[in-house]
Amino acid sequence: MKKDIFNSQIANMRNYIMFEIKARQIELTQMLKEKNRSPIALSMGAPIDMVPDFVVKKVNEYLKEPSLHTYSTPKGEVKFLNAVQYYMKKRFNVELDPKNEIFSLIGSKEGLSNLIRALVNPKYEEKEKDIILTPTPGYASYIQMIKIAQGKAFGVKLAKENNFMPNLYDTLDEIKKEGLNPDNIKALIINYPNNPLGCNCSLDYLSHCVEFCKNQGIVLISDNAYCELYYDESYKPHSIFEIEGAKDCAVEMYSFSKSYAMTGWRLGFACGNSEIITMLSRMKSTVDTGIFKVLQYAGADLLESEEGQKYIDEQNIKFKNKIQKFVDGLKSLGYNIEMPKCAFYLWLEIPKRYDNCEDFARDMLEKSGIVIVPGTAFDTIHKEAKRYCRLSVVASDEDLKEVIERMRADGFYWE
Ligand SMILES: Cc1ncc(COP(=O)(O)O)c(C=O)c1O
Repeated sequence: MKKDIFNSQIANMRNYIMFEIKARQIELTQMLKEKNRSPIALSMGAPIDMVPDFVVKKVNEYLKEPSLHTYSTPKGEVKFLNAVQYYMKKRFNVELDPKNEIFSLIGSKEGLSNLIRALVNPKYEEKEKDIILTPTPGYASYIQMIKIAQGKAFGVKLAKENNFMPNLYDTLDEIKKEGLNPDNIKALIINYPNNPLGCNCSLDYLSHCVEFCKNQGIVLISDNAYCELYYDESYKPHSIFEIEGAKDCAVEMYSFSKSYAMTGWRLGFACGNSEIITMLSRMKSTVDTGIFKVLQYAGADLLESEEGQKYIDEQNIKFKNKIQKFVDGLKSLGYNIEMPKCAFYLWLEIPKRYDNCEDFARDMLEKSGIVIVPGTAFDTIHKEAKRYCRLSVVASDEDLKEVIERMRADGFYWE
């Protein structure tokens, strides 16, 4: 083949970090087993619990329907879109028109990626690139998706000092200071509850985001993948559409993955501004043909069911206890860590004796079989990320107890 035959962004890109870590874990499994340190994964954001029985029963029923085995449409089945409308009204008191304001997704990752491609005009000169404002630390895929689209990710820094709610006009000033053109900004991504920080934001802050995006004439992408995982009623997540006028500029992404432990099902939806939904539709009608109708039907029933809500409530109690016990365990080793408000991640500061998070994560894996993710996977922009690792607290209670025991036995104390 000719030299440089592939798209240079793709050719120079790493595989998605979570899969790289998984591959390394598999490579080391035999060696770790031999020293009684079989891998315990605290890496992927994937709950290990069984999905709701209800949805499995529904799938079994719908599988017998011949008409549900044919192509769906990217937009989604009417039954699914209507169920989303019902859920959004019940959960957030938000009104949406299923015809123009709701769209099915093959998981929210796909939706985010296709939407970013629908927004960014590819440019090759760094200073000319379309800009997407991206939460940092944030979901590792955002920056890669923007790179693939030949855009530029500009980090909006979430920090304790700004209570994880940075003033976006300060970000605008930073953009100007770096000699970039604010007219090139296409969108702001927000993610509350946040992966990897587990923080949430207030309704006032959501208003600030809407006001900023309307003022700048840009799209607001609210990634609400973790909206059902919260451990304190006062931090119960909101929808961006609870803010008046949000539909003028915003689209919100939802997922069944985290709420119902349905990561493998690849089911989600986008909703909001009809023009944005139309553009997403143009993009997706070319690159996919929608989701298996059986999954949409079963997912629709789940959104409308009492069983679905009961599952969420029980999972939140389970996660709260599990995470609290694990936090206490880490504290007993001297770490300074708090219970997250939402989601199931811990953003753990690494011991001072380590220079960077990659070394700490490597030692945890190679010495103790504990699989964690270096903070730099979530923030390539700010150097503080080097001092953190993300722990996804989704393992069983026994495995989490074992993690603390191994850390104690293998000397992974704070000091
Ligand atoms: C913040 C955030 N958004 C989106 C996703 C994608 O989830 P899915 O594609 O399973 O809906 C994830 C997955 O980890 C995530 O953490």
